[in-house]
Amino acid sequence: MSKSLTAENFAKLDVVIAEHKGTRGALMPVLHEGQKLFGFLPMQVQKHISDNLEIPMAEIYGVVTFYSQFSLEPKGEYHIGVCLGTACYVRGAQSLIDIISRDLDVAVGKTSDSGKFSLEATRCIGACGLAPVLTVNEDVYGRLVDGDIPGILEKYKG
Ligand code: FES
Repeated sequence: MSKSLTAENFAKLDVVIAEHKGTRGALMPVLHEGQKLFGFLPMQVQKHISDNLEIPMAEIYGVVTFYSQFSLEPKGEYHIGVCLGTACYVRGAQSLIDIISRDLDVAVGKTSDSGKFSLEATRCIGACGLAPVLTVNEDVYGRLVDGDIPGILEKYKG
């Protein structure tokens, strides 16, 4: 499925908007569908949702930026999330994210020029017993030390 901002994807989003319009809690399922269809929720998509659900842009933007499952930037083929929750932070997560950022030349919250990697700092993902933790798409890596990072990245650089 194409994740670009095509008329076809907007039409699919409109189906979900029509299903939920006027119901309480309409925004979350529509945003989830938008994230799934487009891979991210740029202003153009937020504006479309705002106009069609008749919900103010400020409210939509607030929700999109609050929940980490939504993103304003296109995610990379491999999306790396480094947990910066308390348990992970005190066990050195900041150092991990710095190393990844330098190694891949991608800033936190951004996607590499190649589109291959995106990097994000996340809130607690509920795996504190494995702190510090990072995820690459569905893969979870825990009890990490700085020296583990090059080997992990190597697997995805291909
Ligand atoms: S603080 Fe990182 S998993 Fe909970």
